[in-house]
Amino acid sequence: MSKKIRVSTILKRKAEGIKITALTAYDYTFGYLLDEAGVDLILVGDSCGNVCAGYETTLPVTVDEMIYHTRSVRRGVNHALLVADMPFMSYQETLEQALHNAGRFMKEGSAEAVKLEGGEHICSTVRQIVEIGIPVMGHLGFTPQSVHEFGGYKVRGKDSAEAEKMKVDALALQDAGVFAIVLEKIPTLLAKEISEILTIPTIGIGAGPYCNGQILVSYDMLGLYDRVQFKFVRRYASLADEIRKAVTNYCDDVKNNDFPSLNESF
Ligand code: KIV
Repeated sequence: MSKKIRVSTILKRKAEGIKITALTAYDYTFGYLLDEAGVDLILVGDSCGNVCAGYETTLPVTVDEMIYHTRSVRRGVNHALLVADMPFMSYQETLEQALHNAGRFMKEGSAEAVKLEGGEHICSTVRQIVEIGIPVMGHLGFTPQSVHEFGGYKVRGKDSAEAEKMKVDALALQDAGVFAIVLEKIPTLLAKEISEILTIPTIGIGAGPYCNGQILVSYDMLGLYDRVQFKFVRRYASLADEIRKAVTNYCDDVKNNDFPSLNESF
């Protein structure tokens, strides 16, 4: 069995030039499947709001819901670093609120780190969370909790002012103590530049091949959530089609008296 992945392992990967592999999980079964397959970092993403709860955005997801998902994944994960997403309005109100909720993810969810969206404006909060001993992962670019401010699911950092601001944000987050930054939906060359100016790793999603690692929503890359197909997602399986086929076959077998057979009965 390979060694437990820790924050220090993730940091070392960049120095060693070894790409970091990351995926999302929301329950025990996916937790153990991804963990046994050897993924480095498992994120309990607030994308569970989209793919598990069927919300249009991640905004309605609550801390209690995220803790339930984190505890479920935790029971399946022994090897990967387990990071929990702090949902919308669980860290933006006051520093006390952010520290309290970050602590809940560690105590009640047994996460090993938390992820917060945003740049310079959240750095004082990030610094305090790190100072009380909770590792933090940053998230820049298209940050889904700001979808309404952005006016949709567009690529971020295309104009030079926004690109420059993102570099400032990335350096500020690094200075505040984050151990890695997710870069979502930004131009390839901007992601390359940010990856080069930082000493901590970048983990890309729709940010091109020059990041220090990659993350995808597991339901997207497995073709389980197939209502939309994003340009930046490569589908490694077609689980939705497999499930539809299997369920149709099951229904046919029940109706035709083919299931259960006597061998499947007591
Ligand atoms: O919630 C999530 O799944 C995420 C990833 C897309 C990085 O934040």
